[in-house]
Amino acid sequence: TGYFSYDPGFTCTGSCLSAITFIDGPKGVCLYRGYSVPDLVDQAQALEVAYLLLVGEKPSVAQLAEFRKEIQKHMLVHEKVKAMFSNFTINAHPMAIMVAVIGALSCIFSELDPLDEEHRWLACKRLIAKVPVLACWAYKTSIGQPMMYPRADLSFAENFLYMMFATPMEEYQVNPVAAKAINAFMILHMDHEQNASTSTVRIAGSSQANPYACIAAGVASLWGPAHGGANEAVIKMLEEIGVPENVPNFVADVKAKKEGVRLMGFGHRVYKNYDPRAKVMKGLVAQVLQELGIEDPLLKVAQELEKVALADDYFVQRKLYPNVDYYSGIMLRALGIPTSMFTVMFAMSRTVGWVSQWNEMVSEGQMRIGRPRQLYVGPKERKWSESKGAG
Ligand code: CMC
Repeated sequence: TGYFSYDPGFTCTGSCLSAITFIDGPKGVCLYRGYSVPDLVDQAQALEVAYLLLVGEKPSVAQLAEFRKEIQKHMLVHEKVKAMFSNFTINAHPMAIMVAVIGALSCIFSELDPLDEEHRWLACKRLIAKVPVLACWAYKTSIGQPMMYPRADLSFAENFLYMMFATPMEEYQVNPVAAKAINAFMILHMDHEQNASTSTVRIAGSSQANPYACIAAGVASLWGPAHGGANEAVIKMLEEIGVPENVPNFVADVKAKKEGVRLMGFGHRVYKNYDPRAKVMKGLVAQVLQELGIEDPLLKVAQELEKVALADDYFVQRKLYPNVDYYSGIMLRALGIPTSMFTVMFAMSRTVGWVSQWNEMVSEGQMRIGRPRQLYVGPKERKWSESKGAG
């Protein structure tokens, strides 16, 4: 009953109040708690930014040290959850594994009361700490290597590389270029206001469901190619294009909307200008490839594709620019990260935003259950006993 507006895709519906991330779409600005995201990438550590997003302020030296200690403590994962990994098929997509194992944390922490502040804080820290471990274990499972535990002497970004690439048989030295790149990747992906996955987490949480289950729902929502799965899809698209000479034909297919072909890594619901995260990522890719002495032929394809698209009326009129996913995959490839892990890394970073948004929603009492309406377009009331069935 009553009136409501029909807004498919929620293009003009504000669903909550939030003090976490600010985006100015037309200007291409993104701020975390008021701080410019490109500045944070330059000047902050991933864990500092996680604290900022979760708590609301930059941590003091003592607060950061305490937070780091807490996160390290919570990086341990219950052996029952670890045992789950052995049951996935060897070619299972790591995102499928992530949905399952993060959801399974809710079996371990089933007594949790979202309305209790201490419980909530604990859940946020546990998720920030454990999801990177689960992410790396999903990868290790897919290549049949032993899972590595994090090390207390490494930073958040360094630990990710260590758990991904170290084995018990050899000394592993974290490459500082790679650690810097991972730190930047994490910060760039940590939050982005009410995107599909964050809204999913909020809606799931609005019923007071277990937060680990809510984050698993967020992971599922992120997986698709229109959202976090775009970073994987971009690489597949660039590989299919193959060489810069094939770019014009591909762009012609996109413009003709041939079988729904889209330029992956382009376009955004909110940004109608160059995504500021993409600008940072583009610079970072060039720097990382140069510092590692890697030449990736896909970079040339991506650069040509961007040049051709940005000069074309189709993209200009629709205000379609590269988004954060356009260049990120080329950087991750240079670090030796397989394509199937790209979206997992997005999920691992976005977990910080998801828990911060969930905590904000619950702690501020924005707990009216999410319940969109619909326009019903089905049959009028009819009698089962009088119906003959479809035949
Ligand atoms: N390539 C070609 N045409 C596009 C693209 C694209 N990437 N994106 C939008 N358009 C066209 C679309 O066909 C439509 O044209 P028309 O007016 O002729 O029908 C117009 O632009 C508006 O598109 P829309 O689908 O209504 O836009 P949206 O706000 O609903 O979708 C989007 C946003 C990000 C899902 C979309 O731009 C897209 O599919 N991009 C490719 C996938 C991608 O890179 N996703 C990552 C987004 S950023 C990171 C994240 O959120 O995970």
